[in-house]
Amino acid sequence: MMIWHVRGGIPLRGTIPVQGSKNAVLPILAASILAPCETTLTGVPNLRDVGITLRILRHLGCAAEMNDHVMYIDSRPLSRCDIPHSLMRELRSSVIFLGAILCRCGEARLSLPGGCELGPRPVDLHLDALRALGADVTEQGGDIIAKGGHLTGTRILLPFPSVGATENAMLAACAAKGETTILGAAREPEIVDLQRYLRRLGADLTGAGTAEITVRGFHPKAHAAHQILPDRIAAATLLCAAAASGGEISLTNANPSHFLTVLDSLSEAGCDIITRSDTVSLHAPRRLTAPRPIVTRPYPGFPTDAQPPLMAACLKAKGTTVFTENIFQNRYRHAAELRRLGAEVSIEGRVAYITGVERLTAAPLTAGDLRGGAAMIVAALSAEGETEIFDEDHISRGYDRLDQQLNALGAEVRCTY
Ligand code: EPZ
Repeated sequence: MMIWHVRGGIPLRGTIPVQGSKNAVLPILAASILAPCETTLTGVPNLRDVGITLRILRHLGCAAEMNDHVMYIDSRPLSRCDIPHSLMRELRSSVIFLGAILCRCGEARLSLPGGCELGPRPVDLHLDALRALGADVTEQGGDIIAKGGHLTGTRILLPFPSVGATENAMLAACAAKGETTILGAAREPEIVDLQRYLRRLGADLTGAGTAEITVRGFHPKAHAAHQILPDRIAAATLLCAAAASGGEISLTNANPSHFLTVLDSLSEAGCDIITRSDTVSLHAPRRLTAPRPIVTRPYPGFPTDAQPPLMAACLKAKGTTVFTENIFQNRYRHAAELRRLGAEVSIEGRVAYITGVERLTAAPLTAGDLRGGAAMIVAALSAEGETEIFDEDHISRGYDRLDQQLNALGAEVRCTY
């Protein structure tokens, strides 16, 4: 159990670079086994989820090393096509390996955990996409077993723009004979980054970033090198922290076009924001004003992952801030913890109402999930006193030493075990 000690009342000031994207690097690591090849990735964030994925790659027989944000993977010695429950339970998004292993081995066996902190996390869209390509996919005793040595290109229609299902379909389609079109695809920037990597690996595909992705073939190369996309949610979290603390920060290695909806809400809340191609600067007022209602949607809508940190930033905003969470069933767990600081948060189904209060006061909190934990840190920055956040390594899943990042901006955050 890690304990975050966060001193409130210090406006954040300074400039730091944005870490590489967790949600870009994870599918790219899965894609690195599509064919026997060597991959070098730069700008890789040092995260618990990346560490678990490295263990999965080594379990499969690959060589994988990470050194100072550079990762080397050699997938030529891959020798297995299964991922056991002991690894899958630690990282449920590893279901993305299903398409990659099926493409490489012609079969795959993954144990699948049930839901997670955010609610049920079904994978029906993933399995239907593989079946559409001709794979035989069955479930036995908690395992997903996929067989399909001869996949055939087809049209895959996703009834919901699932990020993971889109990525799994892209990877499996690389093994298919003939052209595959994915309709209703998710449009997240992380999917565009995956397409960039796949092209460097020898895949012929277009359309990522739109609702229609076409995979025409795959002629594997022996080597691929790729720089990981900046993490738009980590960037949004730091900006929310600056807004909550009344500070003034600049972020480099950012791509503001990837989180315009978050910037719009922060601007409506009274922050002065200046953007350039790869930097974002934010100057917060002493006290925020409630922004217009925030409704989470698939990209390019407001990202669900930024909902908790923005909620935390708005706890003292003048007026009432309204959130509607449309992506996950149970993504307001952080609300009860934020109330312990003195926040006024009421939840009615998918809608959260935040009535801005004059002050928040430090209280011990418990992080229940990755973004909820980050929200508690953001809120603690605007609370009087030192807040302790008890965290079973949720936050380090997605943030690369967030304590160091915040302290580089003048915060007083320390972690004890
Ligand atoms: C990705 O999760 C991200 N994770 C999530 O980030 C992010 O919140 C989510 O996309 C939405 O943007 C990674 O990229 C590793 P989905 P994913 O499939 O792929 C339902 C974070 O904090 N659904 O788009 O799992 C599902 O239950 C994490 O960084 C089905 O019903 O998201 C959910 O309600 C959290 N059937 C909705 O779709 C399926 O087969 C969105 O899921 C798949 C999904």
